[in-house]
Amino acid sequence: MGTSQVPHGDSPADPGRRGFINWFLGTSIGALFASVAYPVLRFVSPPEIPEASMNQVEAGPINDPELLEIGYKILRFGAEPVILIRGGEGDFRAFAATCTHLDCIVEYHKDKKRIWCNCHNGEYNLSGQQVAGPPPRPLESFKVDLVVKAVGEPEHIVVSRA
Ligand code: FES
Repeated sequence: MGTSQVPHGDSPADPGRRGFINWFLGTSIGALFASVAYPVLRFVSPPEIPEASMNQVEAGPINDPELLEIGYKILRFGAEPVILIRGGEGDFRAFAATCTHLDCIVEYHKDKKRIWCNCHNGEYNLSGQQVAGPPPRPLESFKVDLVVKAVGEPEHIVVSRA
């Protein structure tokens, strides 16, 4: 005899090669599984995002040119638009800027002293009460405070929930 029979593919180097292939396939399958499973798990249980809460917003100084010339400006109160109105000297008022009819953003006409919604010609007075057109409810009002930030500087307007 003299010839030893080695089974097909079982050379002396095979245990190392086979181990490497097994390791490579194992880690590849593991990585593939992780790359599919991780996004699915993140989608199924997304991280908790704390809800933004806002209690007040600073609206700038009382001599803001926008307030002096146009008579109003729209602020962002978190995700909510708020209309800040200068009704006269030292008279500042703030309301939710979303019309109570169909949620259009209102504006202020200082010549008529009316808050106006151009979507369906709705009107509110300076107290936020609906006076014309289809709006069914008054505008939500906000509290306005004037705050001295530094001596010799104009007061600043701070809008907060009423
Ligand atoms: S949305 Fe304002 S009047 Fe209709």
